[in-house]
Amino acid sequence: MKLLITTNPGMEDLLVKELVSLLNLRTDKLCAHVLNKGRILINLLVNMSINDIFLLAARSNLAHKISMVLAEGNVSKDMRSLDIAYELTLKSCAENYLNQHLTFAVRAERIGEHEYTSIDLAKHVGQAIVDAVMEKYGIRPPVNLDHPTVIFDALVVGSKFFLALRISGEESLHKRGYRIYDHPAALKPTIAYGMLQIADLKDGEVLLDPMCGGGTIVIEAARNFKLKNIYCMDISPKHLKGAMKNAIASSTYDSIVFILGDARKANEYVKDRVDAIVTNPPYGIRMLRRKYLRKLYSDFLKSAKNILSNKGRIVIITAEHSLFKEEALKAGYNILSTRKVLHGNLEVEIIKIKPT
Ligand SMILES: C[S@@+](CC[C@H](N)C(=O)[O-])C[C@H]1O[C@@H](n2cnc3c(N)ncnc32)[C@H](O)[C@@H]1O
Repeated sequence: MKLLITTNPGMEDLLVKELVSLLNLRTDKLCAHVLNKGRILINLLVNMSINDIFLLAARSNLAHKISMVLAEGNVSKDMRSLDIAYELTLKSCAENYLNQHLTFAVRAERIGEHEYTSIDLAKHVGQAIVDAVMEKYGIRPPVNLDHPTVIFDALVVGSKFFLALRISGEESLHKRGYRIYDHPAALKPTIAYGMLQIADLKDGEVLLDPMCGGGTIVIEAARNFKLKNIYCMDISPKHLKGAMKNAIASSTYDSIVFILGDARKANEYVKDRVDAIVTNPPYGIRMLRRKYLRKLYSDFLKSAKNILSNKGRIVIITAEHSLFKEEALKAGYNILSTRKVLHGNLEVEIIKIKPT
């Protein structure tokens, strides 16, 4: 069975690791190929039912969209590729997932240079599905582009065509549904979860996000780990209240300690030894002058040293990565790892450090 899965560009390896663990597979039973940024083709070399894949969609914390491949083939740049896509779809058995009553839609995407558009692709693939259902049931299946029951993905990446059945539904799985308060610079929950994985968080540890905003990082932690204590701090009463609202909506409120406080003096507010600080500080260069940001990072790093346990590490996401790394080295930290990730259209870095 082959799957098409999307995640945050830069976190593909973390997603593959998560799949191996969720499906309880030996690593040699899964082949992964990154088709383009954040889009992975997974070949499962074991028997899996479609129900296993539905469970995977329910349990993954890193996937955005999951689809099961029904057909694939080679296409080119020219218009004849649309006929190839039609033929491949007709032979894909897509009609087995429909009947005369179920509504469907095709969501098409095209990456690369082609003479046809994604709308052309959707039309040809959609027509093949209609023709296949007519052939099987003698009735035209109802198309509903706004609220379809069944979604098919038609994807062309360069010279490869895929038809796939969407398992994860219309909405990207990063939309968790607990975001009652929408912080203006909120992190995607899938990125927040990825940062917790990079922090290598273990059950029984103490976590702090000293610039928590709407609380995405601590909420993802409370939902997925059995931690001893989770501290969520922000200097803004409005954002801290927002984080509390989100925590209530995600049923994690009781697991989190909320603190109105200043990350530059974190040691004055948090008396526990902290094993992991995972945070998403401000980095908007338009909003804040770099000089201010340098001082904020430097003061936070100095203060953090006073509360970190002997296992203590910091995982931070910032677009101001050079500035942060300079300040981290000056403040006496080792840089353990860095990775580039796309946050929306912004290239940011996730940096892991620990005191020397
Ligand atoms: C990029 S936002 C965090 C967004 C958050 N990760 C989310 O998903 O909603 C940065 C936050 O840092 C807070 N902040 C800025 N300076 C701070 C300081 N000195 N101490 C504590 N919080 C601070 C801001 O109020 C803002 O909410």
